[in-house]
Amino acid sequence: MAIYEKNCVVIITGASVDIGRAFANSFASKLNSNSLLILSSRSLEKINHVKEQLKNDFPNVNVATVEWGNKPISPRASDYKGDLQRIAKDKSFDVAIVVHNAVVAGDLSEHVSNFGNNLNKLQFVLNVNLFSILALTTAFVEVFEAVPKKFLVNMTAHSVHVPIPTFGYSSISKAGVEMGLNVLAKENPDVKVLHYDPVLVDTEGTRSLMKDTVNETVRGFFKSFYEENKLLTASDVADNLVKLLAQDSFESGSVVEASDVL
Ligand SMILES: NC(=O)c1ccc[n+]([C@@H]2O[C@H](COP(=O)([O-])OP(=O)(O)OC[C@H]3O[C@@H](n4cnc5c(N)ncnc54)[C@H](OP(=O)(O)O)[C@@H]3O)[C@@H](O)[C@H]2O)c1
Repeated sequence: MAIYEKNCVVIITGASVDIGRAFANSFASKLNSNSLLILSSRSLEKINHVKEQLKNDFPNVNVATVEWGNKPISPRASDYKGDLQRIAKDKSFDVAIVVHNAVVAGDLSEHVSNFGNNLNKLQFVLNVNLFSILALTTAFVEVFEAVPKKFLVNMTAHSVHVPIPTFGYSSISKAGVEMGLNVLAKENPDVKVLHYDPVLVDTEGTRSLMKDTVNETVRGFFKSFYEENKLLTASDVADNLVKLLAQDSFESGSVVEASDVL
């Protein structure tokens, strides 16, 4: 996998558990000793635990951790830029990758027709799922401006393209990310955008969706995936992303499902 022979910086948000953690593991298994993995979480303690495990399994990999959590007011690039500048200081890279993985599902007991009664709830989800991504993206593009090859990976979902009852909060915010990054890709041809859909993986997030949605049909749909054993594993999803970026044959702005990666 030629790109991983080059010096890469890879940023993964929400990397303490589940798919984010699997990404950390898969990239760590490929990166060379001049590369750098930057892992973020709301909990420094949890993410440092991941770092320790990675250092055990892959002693040559450089890992930095950073606590990035919910912003009480609208997130800005400056919330991220200082940390990235400090961590990447005096290092030079050939490839820069950011994986926007952190997410909040929003209130799955609520219908869109009711959102207007308390838009603060939507504002919170937009802060985490859309504005934080745009803010981090700006910081990433500015800090790694000189890096010749840049990838922005947005974790998307089926529910971004097909309306699913009770998924309004996450679908509205994730749809905004998709279009925002596609416009960015047109404006910045040196940045390649990938919308990566892990399909369905058994994670804390998936279990909460199943438990919290008030829509019986949606709950049944999730249950059938579990019963029919159709879920992907987080490590397969992660390995396939690492492979996809190395192949670099996808069109910028395209949506790729983890199960379609050969
Ligand atoms: N699981 C699936 O089947 C599936 C399907 C389609 C798309 N996806 C997408 O794939 C990505 C990973 O999925 P997942 O199921 O692993 O997600 P998840 O467990 O629900 O959450 C991912 C991470 O987001 C961070 N996070 C949660 N609440 C947050 C908040 N309020 N503010 C900031 N960060 C927060 C957490 O990391 P820390 O605790 O480290 O902060 C959490 O581990 C998500 O973008 C999801 O939408 C997943």
